[in-house]
Amino acid sequence: MVGDALIDALVGVVGPANVLIDADLRAGYETDWTGRFHGSARCVVRPANTDEVAGVLRACSSAATAVVPQGGNTGLVGGSVPRGAEVVLSLRRLDVIEPVDARHGSVVVGAGAVLGAVRTDARAAGWDVGVDMASRDTATIGGMVSTNAGGVHVLRYGSMREQVLGLEAVLADGRVVGRIPGLRKDNTGYDLAGLLTGAEGTLAVITRVHLSLVPHLPDRVVTLCALDSFADAVTVSGALRKKIDSLVALEVFFPEGLALVCEHAGLQLPFDRSYPAYLLVECAAHGGRANSLVEELGSVLGECPQVQTTAVAVDATSRARLWAYRDRHTEAINAAGIPHKLDVTLPFDRLVDFERAVRSYLDEVAPHTRVVWFGHVGDGNLHVNLLGLQPDEFAVDDGVLDLVTAMGGSISAEHGIGIAKRAAFERSAGAADLASMSAIKRALDPGGILNPGVLVTP
Ligand code: MLT
Ligand code: ZN
Repeated sequence: MVGDALIDALVGVVGPANVLIDADLRAGYETDWTGRFHGSARCVVRPANTDEVAGVLRACSSAATAVVPQGGNTGLVGGSVPRGAEVVLSLRRLDVIEPVDARHGSVVVGAGAVLGAVRTDARAAGWDVGVDMASRDTATIGGMVSTNAGGVHVLRYGSMREQVLGLEAVLADGRVVGRIPGLRKDNTGYDLAGLLTGAEGTLAVITRVHLSLVPHLPDRVVTLCALDSFADAVTVSGALRKKIDSLVALEVFFPEGLALVCEHAGLQLPFDRSYPAYLLVECAAHGGRANSLVEELGSVLGECPQVQTTAVAVDATSRARLWAYRDRHTEAINAAGIPHKLDVTLPFDRLVDFERAVRSYLDEVAPHTRVVWFGHVGDGNLHVNLLGLQPDEFAVDDGVLDLVTAMGGSISAEHGIGIAKRAAFERSAGAADLASMSAIKRALDPGGILNPGVLVTP
């Protein structure tokens, strides 16, 4: 039987301990982080290196069996869990972190290396990883590159794509492509690393990444600003982007989310009363400049009459206390129910209109929905979390995403398309763009075994 022959072949590649067939062993790989997306896998296979990944893909290609690549399973659009009878290819054992190049600021890591661990090694060498996010202790570098993850420092360092100097990946037929180590400048031919970044595992399986690092900036100030409206938060964030070179994060959240976080995490509210909007600002430098950062940020905020009050933190513990109000939104929302997570970018001057339009749309079509907003306002990126819908109820999501498209925005700022946004993506992208993507998919994965159903129609 084809199925048994495939299992035998996979066991031959990775050994019996790394082919998980029992439902109990598979379970942790079959449901996404939010609990919204799940399916049954044929098995979960856990290779340890690039050769084994190639062997797994050759076996799956020969058996014409679909493969779902998976890193830390922190994705939010259903792209890394099975839809039915695929082989889940877990990259977590490819977790080698090579020694940091401390002179020039880069590191080569396996796809399964966890962001937090890479950051620890980078900081020990005086460098840092340019991308950071709340899931840092679970998210893997391979998954982050595959989804072109963003996070809280995009306004300073860009998304994952900007951190990749080179990568190595395995095509569906087992051939290995890419360049490790990568070079700072390399203008030879198509940018394969750029193409595979953000491809959500549909074109190849990323196995190793050469990351460019950024200087570690230990002097930091975090200020939480209370504001009377979202419009004021957008105005203040524009002023800060214009005037402060040391800015590394500009995040927004609102009283609904803050109340959830405080209840879930047992935190006190940051101020003696609630405000309609909150802006979390972080500035960073090195050379013992913390006090001058406080002065500079205080002086620019002092010129913004929209700021009602602030809480300022300089030492690491106080900074972490302020960041918790923002970082813990995701877990607090998940504790309140299974969210539909819409992650969108708008032109800065449409953000406020968009927020109003979504509220009136929801009042009309789904008044029972609870909406929790937060996001990276410095990038024009809002996270719209809808609670109270059925997991498979896509119509309300699609209505919100169509508003995004109508206002000139993007239906995915940083989470990707996955399966959650396939229909909206097909409506929002141009026909020639979609056809070009399908042609690339067919060229690199002619059998269509890599993450079928995700992102692109072959
Ligand atoms: C975040 O900004 O915290 C992440 O994108 C996760 C989320 O949207 O919940
Ligand atoms: Zn985010």
